[in-house]
Amino acid sequence: MTAFKPLVFSGVQPTGNLHLGNYLGALTKFVALQDSHDCIYCVVDMHSITAQLVHADLIEQTRSITAAFLASGIDPKKHIVFNQSRVPQHAELAWIFNCVARIGWMNRMTQFKDKAGKDRENASLGLLAYPSLMAADILVYRATHVPVGDDQKQHLELTRDIATKFNNDFSGRIADLGIGVDMMNGDEKVNGFFPLTEPLIEGPATRVMSLRDGTKKMSKSDPSDLSRINLTDDADEISKKIRKAKTDPEALPSELDGLKDRPEAENLVGIFAALSGVTREQVIADFGGQQFSVFKPALAELAVEKLAPISAEMRRISDDRAYVDAVLRDGGERAGALAEATMKDVRRIVGFLH
Ligand code: TYM
Repeated sequence: MTAFKPLVFSGVQPTGNLHLGNYLGALTKFVALQDSHDCIYCVVDMHSITAQLVHADLIEQTRSITAAFLASGIDPKKHIVFNQSRVPQHAELAWIFNCVARIGWMNRMTQFKDKAGKDRENASLGLLAYPSLMAADILVYRATHVPVGDDQKQHLELTRDIATKFNNDFSGRIADLGIGVDMMNGDEKVNGFFPLTEPLIEGPATRVMSLRDGTKKMSKSDPSDLSRINLTDDADEISKKIRKAKTDPEALPSELDGLKDRPEAENLVGIFAALSGVTREQVIADFGGQQFSVFKPALAELAVEKLAPISAEMRRISDDRAYVDAVLRDGGERAGALAEATMKDVRRIVGFLH
């Protein structure tokens, strides 16, 4: 019995423009992991209909996220890029996970509470079950590592809970069929079918905050476009948004500790560090004691230098719709074959007659 083969999976929803938070929290990690791992990157269109059912342009949005993946440097030949709805095994496994997971687990998800708002009874059932589909996305490939931003941490803990409960509830069946893998669950050695996936949430920009309010996450749904830098923004827009970013009147501190209780300053330092590939300590060493009138132009120049080529490449790739569609078709076929291999075993474990 061998250990699980290392495999990276992650997903991005095709709702709204991708922003700097998505880029630094997720996409740059996706790109970096390609050298060391087999990777599957998914545009999760089925998740997009949980909060809002009808979209004017879901297909275009799906293409646009795919173009962002490719423009950032993801190689769709060496790895797999596809959209979720092409591989119905995600939905099939999500149904089984709906029966593994407990309603209480879902009710505790902070993203559900945020998105459902006050009128929870009126949220779609899909929004409540969202994390179950997310667990299925990952586990239908038995993926071991998931690069995400900090806001997905709780969903990934739930993914581990679902895997653990499935492994426990079906332990007899898994052993009888001889298809389990020896693995550690904390200190305990168990034989399970699904791995306990590791979240990869590292670096200086796991939670990029709004440029207008350093206590709020940068988000696609913020009504103010000045709150975020979109991957489609041109150089002028990027510079303007950084110039207008909220700050306090103090100079940057000369120690990292001095960023405490200065959320806007802390955010801009984190963004600078992530864009330039250095630590926040290094940024403070270089800019400590300087005013924002010095730091902001340096940050704007850096952001334009890093992001403008990606946005140009995104436009170029988006114009070649046939290419984007071919990438998704090919990725969907390869992902589908892997997902079906897992589901053949899952159906036997659960006891579905085929
Ligand atoms: P989504 O589409 O909201 O965001 C995509 C990725 O971007 C990260 N992110 C951020 N990182 C840092 N700072 C921010 N302000 C910021 N905003 C977003 C997110 O953490 C995410 O990594 N539920 C997921 C999609 C999903 C998924 C999956 C992810 C579905 N299935 C399986 C991993 C594995 C979501 O809504 O991401």
